[in-house]
This record gives sequence, C-alpha cells and structure tokens, in this order.
Amino acid sequence: MCGIVGYIGARNSQEVLLDGLSKLEYRGYDSAGIAVFTNEGLQIRKAQGRLANLATRLEDEPLAGGVGIGHTRWATHGKPSDENSHPHTDATMKFSVVHNGIIENYMELKEELMAQGVPFISETDTEVISHLIAREYDGDIVKAVQRAITYIRGAFALGVLTEYEPDRLVAVRCASPLVIGIGEGENFIGSDIPAILQYTRRVYILNDNEMAVLTKEAVELMTIEGNSISREMIVVDWDAMTAEKGGYDHFMLKEIHEQPKAYRDTMRGRLQEGLSGVKLTELKVLTNERLREIRNVHIVACGTAYHAGLVGRTLIEQAIRIPVETDVASEYRYRNPIITPETLVIVVSQSGETADTLAALREAKRCGAAVLAITNVVGSSVAREADDTIVTWAGPEIAVASTKAYTSQLIAFMLLSLYWAEQTGRMGAAELRHQLAAMEALPEQVESILTQADELKRVAEEMAAHDNLFFIGRGVDYAVAMEGSLKLKEISYIHSEAYAAGELKHGTLALIEEGIPVIALVTQSSLVEKMISNIKEVKARGGVVYAVTDKAHAELVSKAVDGTFVLPTTLAHLSPALSVIPLQLISYYASLARGNDVDKPRNLAKSVTVE
Ligand code: G6P
Repeated sequence: MCGIVGYIGARNSQEVLLDGLSKLEYRGYDSAGIAVFTNEGLQIRKAQGRLANLATRLEDEPLAGGVGIGHTRWATHGKPSDENSHPHTDATMKFSVVHNGIIENYMELKEELMAQGVPFISETDTEVISHLIAREYDGDIVKAVQRAITYIRGAFALGVLTEYEPDRLVAVRCASPLVIGIGEGENFIGSDIPAILQYTRRVYILNDNEMAVLTKEAVELMTIEGNSISREMIVVDWDAMTAEKGGYDHFMLKEIHEQPKAYRDTMRGRLQEGLSGVKLTELKVLTNERLREIRNVHIVACGTAYHAGLVGRTLIEQAIRIPVETDVASEYRYRNPIITPETLVIVVSQSGETADTLAALREAKRCGAAVLAITNVVGSSVAREADDTIVTWAGPEIAVASTKAYTSQLIAFMLLSLYWAEQTGRMGAAELRHQLAAMEALPEQVESILTQADELKRVAEEMAAHDNLFFIGRGVDYAVAMEGSLKLKEISYIHSEAYAAGELKHGTLALIEEGIPVIALVTQSSLVEKMISNIKEVKARGGVVYAVTDKAHAELVSKAVDGTFVLPTTLAHLSPALSVIPLQLISYYASLARGNDVDKPRNLAKSVTVE
C-alpha cells in the first residue's frame, strides 16, 4: 500500500511531488511527506493526515530544490503519526527512503541493527531500509541499495536519495508497482502513471527485481543484481484531464456518469460486424482448442471485483455449462483449491496490483492452470503475469469506491462468455445476435437511469437517517445486492447486509423491526413471485421496502412495496449492468447526506498491495 513519487530536474520539486501525491492519495491518506535536496542539504517535511496538511506545512516552511521524493501512507506497521510517516532516514540524516509495500523480516533486521547501535525513531518496517542503505554505503548509492535489499524479504517499491550524491535518484521495484517517467532534462518516478502524467506521457514500467537510476539527463535500467536491461518505452495516450474531476463534485459521481462510455469503450472493437460474434483477439494462450479442454473455472478477486466475479460465475455457467466457483483471493490460496491444467483461473482486478489477487494468480500458474486476467490497467502486474488479459477500458478510476471498473468487469464477463460459447459451438448465430443486441443497448439504458438521479437522492437522504439497512435479491440480483451493500458500507458507514432473499427467514428476519429499510432487487422473471413472498415476510415485520425492478415487473412489484425504482428492461443475466447503477447513486447520496468524504472513505485505500 502507499504511493510514492520522485523527481529530478529543473523544476521546483516540491510542487511536482505534491501534485504527484495528490493523484496517489487513493493509495492511502494516513500521512504524507517529502524529502528535497535544498541548499542546506537533504530536508524532510511530514504531516499526519491528508495531503492538504502537508501542503499547509510546506506553505509555512517550503523546500526549494530540484530533486526530491514523496510518499502518501496507508498505515501497516505503526499508527498514523509524524514519526511513522515517510520519507524515513538513517541516523546521520544523509539518506532518505520512501517505500510502498511490506518488509516481512523487518523485526529481525531491526534487532540486528539495534544490536549494532543503530537508533530507531519509528515503528515502521521501512526504517530498516534507510539504516541498511546507510550501513552498506561506501561511495556508490546504487551499490549500497543493491546490497541493502539482499537482506530484506517482502514486497517493496523504493525511492532513495542520498546527500552524498545529489544528482542521482534510485528506484527499485520488488513486487510493488513502479513506473519511470521520461522528460526533457527531467525524470520522474511514480507508483502509477497518473501520478506523473501531467509532466510526461513517456514511461518505462519496471518489472519485479528491477531498478532504475535517474539523473536529470538519463535513466539507466538494470536488474537488482546490476545487469543492464533495455525496455521499450510506452507512450501513454490518456490526458491528464481524464484523471481529473471534470466538473463533478466528486470523482465517484464523475465515474458513475462515465459508465455509458466505459461500457462502449470496453465493447468497442470486440463486437463483430452485424453482431455476428465477439472478437477477443487478445486471447493468445486461450485458443479455441484450450477453451474446449477447460473443465472448470475459478474466478478469484477481492472487494468489488469479487462481486463482479459472482455475476461472472452465472454468465459463464449459463453459457458454457461447466462448473464455476468464485473465491475471495485472500481465502483462495489457503483453502488448497483443486486446480488442474484443465482449470481456467480468471483473476479480476481493477488495479491489477492487489497483493491477494496476485498471489492467487501465482498459485494458479504454479498448479498449471490457464490464467486469464480481467483488469483496468494495461501493464499492471496481473496483466503481465497472466497468460492472457482482457482489458476493461474504463479509464483511470480514482474514487476508492469502485463503480465504472465494476460494471466494465461485468461487460468483460459478458463478452467472454459469449465468445466462449460461440467458439465452442454452444450458441447459434441468432441467439448470439439477440444477446449482443441487448448488450449494445446497455449504455443508452444506463444513460436513462442516470437522468433519474434526483429521485435516488431523495431515497438516499431518507436511508441516511438509519443505522441499519438490508439488501435482498435472488440469483444475479443477490450478487448485485452484495455490491450495493458493500458500496453503502464503504462510503456512508451505514451498517448493511446483503441476503439471498430466500435465506432471510433462516435467521436474519429476526433483525427486521419497525421502520428498517430494505432494498429489494427484483429483475429476474423466473424469481419475481418468490421475491414478492420474501418482501411480504419483511413487510409483515415492519420493514420498509424499496424495490429496484424493471419495466416488465414494475406493476406487480410496486403493489408489494413502499417505493419503486424502475429500470429499463434487458435480458435477465445482463440486468446487473443496470440494477447496480441506482445502488451506486444511493450510496453516493447517502454518504453526502452524512457529510462523509465520498472519494476517500475512512480506513480504506483504493489499491491494496499488502496481503
Ligand atoms: C480495495 C478497494 C476496493 C477494490 C479492492 C480490489 O479494497 O477499496 O474498491 O474492489 O481493493 O481492488 P482491485 O484493484 O484488485 O480490483
């Protein structure tokens, strides 16, 4: 976790670092800090809390200089405090380090260093790195870093400076993401591309166990053993504005409204002319032959991506008729799953950097499974390590609460299941055309839902007055209920639970009392009557039910509930791509009504690169 940036060039580095950190705050915002070479040597400023606190501090005590590193923290080892904030330094204050990741053996290293007389001031794992580099230094910072990291185990991306060599910035990547930006007479490092995009579009993506040595004029790439490497430079075609709020009050609201575009972009170029089929030319390892050999599928992901995987399970099972399991990545590896070379493991990750998901991917590969990634970040770790990747073209997602990445993942699963069915002869041309036409209509249908945001705002404001809330649904509606509940919890801090509607009576119904709000998803024709029975059970105990249903069922459903939101009608298994939209908006407006920081909910971070 955490975000790091670095700059070497002629600009005022303080500004470049603050700007980069503002793009990385989604990775953590417990504290922030920078180190800059000034006329008085290497100087550090840190502040607990949001980046704004550091910016205020720097207004009073600016740091002038053209070389610096910066960090925004999501606390793992040691509470959020000034001492535990990065950059960390050694006893002589001549070395400075920013770190994203976890040093697993830091306790033993700390004890060893303390026995050698090294004083520690923080509780962090990172501080051992700065002391180790100082200990190993004999006139060459690159060699000192290389020697120091031979002692450490874990995941880390590092930015390192020393006062002895003010014209060099050293960057290392070992299992935590890091990119290098190339400018004219200036160079950059960042945990991701948006952090440096305002300054350059030309980047190198470091692989694991690689490092870079930056000067103003050049970037040298090498392995951590010091062997020189060459790498193709990527020219990024997003613009910096894409990553900005674009007139919306919050990134989340902007990203909710970007969903029609994200659907279209994710489908673009993948639908055959005349809707005669799906093109997934990116599948190289998953040839038709390999697809025919697949006997079962494991979908593995975390958080919202896991919920997309629950919908993906239904889509694949219905289209291909083979067993599909969906697992939370942090559980998957440890349950000793039965993975064979005939298993397809699909890892789903917006960022492509989630440590649990990446570990599951590696385990799947070790067992010989074919691994397919669905991710939003080209060049991410997950994309690079999977056999094949389907990219969701949702564009950068900044709000911690995922919206457009989730729905784009649903589109990717729809494309995959139809492609697979077509390639293996399981679906005829007419059925395929029918399904693809329904998919093609989704973006416009989402647009029509978004025009009804005011109605959802009113509902959300009523819900915001409650401390407990339930979501119920059956089939894919249940999967969407889980995502709706997570969204609400994440940003409004209202306690909520999602239940399979038929399961409510086996325990949870005891919690329904007078006035408790229940959001019921009712979009599945084959399950409407059963849902209405479950809604009646809730209403009989005093629950207040708000239904999200579609045109085809609205008349029936509205008679059974206290309020109804009506979606356009689509095919049953495509409905999650519509029904989740009102739930996203309810969460957004409930969070606003409660005065919360919508884009940066407490205790959370967008990209979780620790297990
Ligand atoms: C974090 C985020 C969630 C996200 C999850 C998985 O917990 O707060 O919104 O769903 O990580 O992230 P990924 O990038 O792998 O989709």
